[in-house]
Formats: sequence, structure tokens, C-alpha cells
Amino acid sequence: MYDSLFDNYSIMDRLTTPSSKNTNSMWTPPKLVQWIKEDFEKRGFPPPHRLQAELLVSHALNISRLEIYLQFDKPCTTEEQKIVRELVKRRYKREPTAYILQYHDFWSLRLKVGSGVLIPRQDTEVLVECILEKIQERDPSEQIHILELGTGSAAIPLALCYECHNLSIVTIELSKNALEYAAFNTEKYSDIIQQRNNSITLLQGDRFQSISPKTKYDFIVSNPPYIPKHDIDSLQAEVKQWEPIIALNGGETGIDFYEVLLNSAHELLKPNGYLIFEHGYDQLHQISDLVKLDDTLLLDKNRKDYSGHYRVMVLQKS
Ligand SMILES: C[S@@+](CC[C@H](N)C(=O)[O-])C[C@H]1O[C@@H](n2cnc3c(N)ncnc32)[C@H](O)[C@@H]1O
Repeated sequence: MYDSLFDNYSIMDRLTTPSSKNTNSMWTPPKLVQWIKEDFEKRGFPPPHRLQAELLVSHALNISRLEIYLQFDKPCTTEEQKIVRELVKRRYKREPTAYILQYHDFWSLRLKVGSGVLIPRQDTEVLVECILEKIQERDPSEQIHILELGTGSAAIPLALCYECHNLSIVTIELSKNALEYAAFNTEKYSDIIQQRNNSITLLQGDRFQSISPKTKYDFIVSNPPYIPKHDIDSLQAEVKQWEPIIALNGGETGIDFYEVLLNSAHELLKPNGYLIFEHGYDQLHQISDLVKLDDTLLLDKNRKDYSGHYRVMVLQKS
């Protein structure tokens, strides 16, 4: 067992005493990781504990996760330990690791995130996969028009632009704060967007209110807010205390935005166009009941996430 990372003075003494034989008690990068991992476990923080510890240590020491283990016997300086301690203290307040790092990896992209924007989830990669499958059925030389509701960090349009050519994507986001992250991320990947002859237009707006019905789209895609209002309080602290409520709140029953999406599909989708969206792990039946009331949208498929829950619905306009 190591001393507490917060038991500052005894560690400092040993680290600064060149004759110290007690090398086991020196703080090296892997020991910091091990201590933080065990500490987070004891505190009951949500996993993965080792990954979070590695990310915090590599961020603090400005080294890669691999280098943590390559530098297995390199003592950390006082300053490095201080930086690690500050990051760990932020986690004690349940601030999400991605907000502390100011980035999150999604698909093959490193996206800027922080207070005011939802951290893209792994489940949303399943949504991207479903959209890509349908795009790949199209003639690759044709321009494809995509409309996205609730872009957040721009994770979905950027992942599509990373994989495809000839996409013209319009995204709508209500939150000005989230749009700033979307703008930063689209600028960061502007070379990739241009090289593949893609475009992303970011619009601030409420649902589809600012979208002209004269333009028709091949795809409408969305990962909308879908948590029932009264369930938000029961979410883990990292989510309910830190992530924007506007990105979570799907209304009384969680399905407000699916009604918007289904209604707009009539007006805004081209014939044979697709409406593809993510939903909550337990919302398949609720949303299927809504779809049954609609005789112009046909179910193409329901897709499960990697935990085995139905997560994405693909509908085609007849
Ligand atoms: C669940 S988040 C998804 C963010 C991002 N697409 C992703 O997958 O990481 C939903 C997004 O919808 C936005 N939003 C909420 N209400 C909206 C509205 N009325 N009109 C447009 N966007 C809205 C939120 O600000 C949030 O960024």
C-alpha cells in the first residue's frame, strides 16, 4: 500500500532525500495510477477506474498512457504531484473526467468538450454505424443531404464526414454554449471535411423551426434528449450535476423529441429518405407505438447497443 497522495509531506521528504533507500514509497507514474484507481473504487465512483486514473495521470504529466508504464521507475516531481492532486480533487466533486481533460475520444476523433456540452457516448457510435450503412447503399458520386437535430459537440456529423464523401450536413442546436464546442470541433477537422467534399452548417435553433420545408433531405438523424424529466434526479452525479439538463430532458415521459422527429419527417424527408435516431435503452416499445400511428414511415430495423439493449431505430419514408 502507498501513502495517500494527499499525505504530502512524508512523500515530499522521501522524494527529496537522495539517500533514501525506501524507493518503494516514491511516487512514480504507475504508482499514482494504482493509488487513484483504488481510491476511486473505495469512493464508489463509476468505472472504469483504471482508465480514469491513467487519463488523469497522463494529462497531468503530459505523457501518453503507454509512457506511464515505460516510466515505471521515474520519480514524479513535487510540481507533477501537485497537478495530479488538483485533478483528483476535481473528480472528488464528481466532475466528469472528460470535462477535466477538456476532450473526449469519439469514433476516430478527439473532440473538445466541457461544461455546457454533452460528452458523446459510446452508444452513439452505434447510431453512426447505422447511418453509415444506409449512406453506403447510395450512389457515392451523389451529394447526400443530412439534417441533424441536437448536434452537441458535433460528434455525429464529424464522424460521418470522417468516413464519407459528398455530404452536405445541416445541424441544429438550441444551446449557444454547445454550439461553441461544435464550432471549435468542426474548425479543428475542417481539412478532413473539405478534402472529402463535405460541408457542415451549424445553426442555432429550436427543433426544426428555422428549417425551410422547401428543402428536402435524404436523412434526418438525431440523438435527442430522451431522459424522462423525473428520472434525471436518479442519474449518477457526474451526469445530473455536471452535464447540461437541456441535453438530457426528454419531457414528462422522455419521448417529446421523437414526436418532433416523426412529425418533421413528413415535411422534410425526400421519398425513400431515412429517419435514424438513438433512444433510451428501455424506450423501444414506447417509440414503436408512436411509429405505428404513422403510415408513411416504415420500420427498416432496430439496432442493439453493445450492452444488448435496443438503442437505434431506422425508419424509411415510403
Ligand atoms: C443527447 S444530446 C446529443 C448531443 C450530440 N448529438 C451527441 O450525440 O453527443 C441532445 C442535444 O440536443 C440539444 N437540444 C435540446 N433541446 C433542443 C431543441 N429544442 N432544439 C435543438 N436542439 C436541442 C441539446 O442541447 C443537446 O446538445
